[in-house]
Amino acid sequence: MEVTIERILPGGLGLAHAGGKTIMVSLAAPGDRLRVRIDKVKGSVSFASIEEVIEPSPSRIEPPCPYFGRCGGCDFQQLSYQAQLDAKVEIIRDCLHRIAGVEELPNFEIVAAPNQWKYRSRTQWQYDSAGKRLGYFESGSRRVCDVSECAVLAPELQASLELVRNLMHENRLPIAARDFRAVVGDEGVAISPSVSGPKVREMNRSIHGETYTLSPESFFQTNADLLPKLIDVALSDAQGETAIELYCGVGLFTIPLARRFKKVSAVESDRDATAFARKNLTLAGLVNAEIANRDVGSWLQSAVDAGALQIDFVLLDPPRTGAESRVINQLVRIEPGRICYVSCDPATLARDLKKLFAGGYSLESIVAFDMFPQTHHVETVVHLSKQIRWNEA
Ligand SMILES: C[S@@+](CC[C@H](N)C(=O)[O-])C[C@H]1O[C@@H](n2cnc3c(N)ncnc32)[C@H](O)[C@@H]1O
Repeated sequence: MEVTIERILPGGLGLAHAGGKTIMVSLAAPGDRLRVRIDKVKGSVSFASIEEVIEPSPSRIEPPCPYFGRCGGCDFQQLSYQAQLDAKVEIIRDCLHRIAGVEELPNFEIVAAPNQWKYRSRTQWQYDSAGKRLGYFESGSRRVCDVSECAVLAPELQASLELVRNLMHENRLPIAARDFRAVVGDEGVAISPSVSGPKVREMNRSIHGETYTLSPESFFQTNADLLPKLIDVALSDAQGETAIELYCGVGLFTIPLARRFKKVSAVESDRDATAFARKNLTLAGLVNAEIANRDVGSWLQSAVDAGALQIDFVLLDPPRTGAESRVINQLVRIEPGRICYVSCDPATLARDLKKLFAGGYSLESIVAFDMFPQTHHVETVVHLSKQIRWNEA
């Protein structure tokens, strides 16, 4: 079947229509004329892969990675870098319009990555010990794509990948391991589970004048190059008496927040990340922030039940699934003057924004960050505000 790609959809697939059908094509570029093969039909939508590029889009380039198409890691390598940025802006626009009901979204900036390759400073390699394969899952499967060189890994992690691969070929990797996590710190790379020498439990990473202690298992942003600007945009000119931070991880935003607010309450459900966040505050000499090791929904519920909260600023940075419905409902009840929502999924961001708009919040600003070049993923920072009505009771 022949199709022309109209645009790139959230999720990274190319949209086409043919024979009265909606067709979503993987690894496509907008404007491509393609011969495609239908792989799967789900309701009224057919999912297809490319058999032949009949006429390439002007934004199509030759993907440089030899694993492209097989490895599930990078699904945007067929696009020029400018086309990747344009597609991400359109993905955010599409979600905010279709899901959140934003009619007129003003033009907004997408901050390009300083390094389009070799940027990942944290990773997870899948390991198939029986098949002697180490790399990433193939797209849409649990089969490990054996990767000896990954074009988006920071050079330190590429060197570590080679080390782990050599140990694999010498049968010296831990038998029970199914995957390895690795992170770049100021003193080198830590890998978990440990592959040589004593286990590295923690390491330091300096970002924007602050030092964070973390481990390979902790969540930490993968693209350190963009973090100073991400922090600056997320915190903007926020300062005052009280701030709440939800989903704080090891405290990337908690430390700068604690330097600007008299009191900060942060929440994180992972026990190790919470311990690191507390340690990071102590090492920074900050005593005005506390970290609750709780589920955000239940913590907010208890905070609301405990009585009146007067909060100047809330920063939330949830996982890809977004915030639970009850979290957004409680935020609307708490009524902070300003909210900053940091999101790694425009669709769940838009779902949550719709509820916040219904709760009286309005969009102040939006900035996107290309934290994940060569993939369809994008980080978005949204600021919302509401007229405070604390004294109305
Ligand atoms: C996207 S990360 C953000 C972490 C941090 N803001 C950063 O940039 O490094 C989301 C964090 O939320 C935590 N998390 C996920 N679900 C949670 C929940 N229901 N309650 C509390 N924390 C949660 C995860 O453990 C993770 O550390």
